[in-house]
Amino acid sequence: MGRFYITTPIYYVNDVPHVGHAYTTLNADALARWHRLVGDDTFFLTGTDEHGQKVADAAAKNGVAPREWTNQTSRRFRDAWDALDVSYDDFIRTTEPRHYESVQAFLGRIYENGYIYKDVYRGLYCVSCEDYYTLEASDDGACPVHGRPLTEMEEENWFFRLSAFEDRLREYYDEHPGFVTPETKRNEAYSFIKGGLRDISITRTSIDWGVPVPWDPEHVFYVWYDALINYLTALDYGRDDARVDAWWPASHHLIGKEIIRFHCVWWPAMCMAAGLEPPHHVQVHGWLLVGGQKLSKTMAAEGTVRLTDIAPVVLTDEFGVDPVRYYLLRETALGNDGEFSYEGIAHRYNTDLANNLGNLVSRVATVVATKCGGVGPAPDASSELAGEARQAVEAARAAWERFAPHAALEATWGLIGATNAYLERHAPWKMEPGAALDRVLGDALEVLRLVAVLIGPAMPGVATEIWSRLGLTGSPSDERADVALVWGRYPGGLAVVKGTPLFPRIEGAR
Ligand code: ME8
Ligand code: MG
Repeated sequence: MGRFYITTPIYYVNDVPHVGHAYTTLNADALARWHRLVGDDTFFLTGTDEHGQKVADAAAKNGVAPREWTNQTSRRFRDAWDALDVSYDDFIRTTEPRHYESVQAFLGRIYENGYIYKDVYRGLYCVSCEDYYTLEASDDGACPVHGRPLTEMEEENWFFRLSAFEDRLREYYDEHPGFVTPETKRNEAYSFIKGGLRDISITRTSIDWGVPVPWDPEHVFYVWYDALINYLTALDYGRDDARVDAWWPASHHLIGKEIIRFHCVWWPAMCMAAGLEPPHHVQVHGWLLVGGQKLSKTMAAEGTVRLTDIAPVVLTDEFGVDPVRYYLLRETALGNDGEFSYEGIAHRYNTDLANNLGNLVSRVATVVATKCGGVGPAPDASSELAGEARQAVEAARAAWERFAPHAALEATWGLIGATNAYLERHAPWKMEPGAALDRVLGDALEVLRLVAVLIGPAMPGVATEIWSRLGLTGSPSDERADVALVWGRYPGGLAVVKGTPLFPRIEGAR
């Protein structure tokens, strides 16, 4: 047992949440739930990134003051996460006073340590990325991510001496091979560093929607520079050193691949400059694509997709919360890109959920009802399914530990499939009541108990429903993995509830 601090990026409030944001947040949620299950002291942070040009522009476009706009839009993110059963421990907004305090304390420290100086900045800027590009890195003067023309910027700014950290960052990477995963993304980050680091401009005078620079109040901090510090604000940086010491650097940042440079180069250097250790681990994931293109608020604003068609709530209204969670966690390995589609969800729903899990639950409960008077028998210690279950549990456990929810679910569904096959072989629906039948049903009930524990991080609602249909009290999330994942804990003698189908098949999906 240890400490597990997991974060999502804090999302820009230039528009409402879409399934891309849900993808990151749900993966983080499942990982947090897994770590609570194994007994780790867990802290799960998400929130919204509310400063910068992009957000100020969105407010202006909607005819409201930035503060009002961010209040409304941040609320939409929080509501979406509540609707998706996201178990965040803290939701941070960068416009909160606590964040201003921590940013000023953290950057004040870097300033005192001599890593901040004043100079003139000239360069090309993409407002959608809130990032500078060199001409070489651009697509003929256009943003390589958004395809829009870059704008020329010139300002007297404060700079962070990123170049001073080239060697220390390389050493850090060499000594911490697991700092960035997967390996391909680690190599990408490392090659940014090997390519040479230039100092970065970290303040603005052209806008005032930001955190004021304490030693030069004409300036506000550049949005990325304030945003990264949210991970420490939530630990009360500058207010409670003991809390920072307890949780830092036990941190895991889950991020999309377009923000590697900020999290894997800038952020560890900023920590070093402030005299802190870099975060423990950055887990990078790929993009959900629609028609091969990254799904984004910027894309939606341009009319390529309608955000309202893929809003998380539209999907959960149709499929239910847990099936959407399952699809997003199961479909793509963290690190790879994945094509997101309505047909894809409908397919997973009908095969994995309706035909496999749902069918297993209903056939077991039906036979218990018809042949055992509704009372579930206990499992057999030497069941042929016990070995299969042990292997699946070990594979799932290892997968959760290495940030591979899709593999954990794959292993779990392997066990579900094996149990359905076991039932086909023994055909308990044709057996006479007696010891042999009890053995088969007891084993199947025990698998369902294990499955409820294993799917809890991904599908907390369904897990609890299966748990109570088995006649067990509370919920699998009240359990501890080291006890609950051992074969043979289903006590038997419990009233098993037949219930309605967990996943009614979706015919003729849209
Ligand atoms: O970058 N597929 O915020 P953002 C998968 N505020 N994940 C996606 C996605 C997609 N199509 N679209 C978005 C920012 N995401 C900054 C972060 S952190 C200190 C500051 C997810 O609103 C993914 O996690 O652009 C990505 O990194 C994040 O949303 C970007 O959200
Ligand atoms: Mg973005």
